[in-house]
Amino acid sequence: MHTDKNYIIGNWKSNKTAAEVKSWFDYFNRNFQKKNLAASGQLEIVICPSFIHLNLVKALIEKYQLPLKKGAQNCSPFEVGSYTGEVAASQLKELAEYVIIGHSERRKYFHENEKILEEKVKKLKEKNLEIIFCVQDDKTPIPEGVKMVAYEPVWAIGTGRAESPHEANKVAASILEKRTIKKVIYGGSVTPENIKGFLQEESITGVLPGKSSLDPALFWQMITNAAI
Ligand code: PGA
Repeated sequence: MHTDKNYIIGNWKSNKTAAEVKSWFDYFNRNFQKKNLAASGQLEIVICPSFIHLNLVKALIEKYQLPLKKGAQNCSPFEVGSYTGEVAASQLKELAEYVIIGHSERRKYFHENEKILEEKVKKLKEKNLEIIFCVQDDKTPIPEGVKMVAYEPVWAIGTGRAESPHEANKVAASILEKRTIKKVIYGGSVTPENIKGFLQEESITGVLPGKSSLDPALFWQMITNAAI
């Protein structure tokens, strides 16, 4: 088992109204007031809502004084300017500490290629934002400057069939070998039941749950199980 701090990064994808965000935080806060599971400093918990909710998430974290960080799910490959519909790294800087880049859903539905991903990484590096760069296996190209990689086998995403921690660890170890990568986390059907298995692996220092992060009860259960 590694001794680094573990990351739990909730990717809400294109989900939740503002009212749903508020009730998620109500639930989280009620539990947190009873038990501060992040107190040991061994967990870094990041919530990645839609762009439109980053401000609200920031306000709720401040209001309840929660030890949570904010993440975006994407960013523009351009600077600020005339790029309708895009959100630039410098705009995100005010609202988030982390940004997910190259998720397989962005590659598949929005045709993001290596060139675009490199540009996004460059813009985020300039603003000192933490990049969570998603790869589908240990062959996926990783742009210069990336330190944290999320290994997410496509067949495990949203299917309820996670990869085994042992197999995921092998891929994570191979990613760590090759580059200047400091951390590899795993994503793909992470649940309260299987989270601990991933975190116990030598080369895996966190998880990126999608579905299980939407329901605050499940998310709380994941943190509880991770902290034991
Ligand atoms: P999932 O999503 O936990 O719902 O499988 C993970 C992800 O796509 O990041």
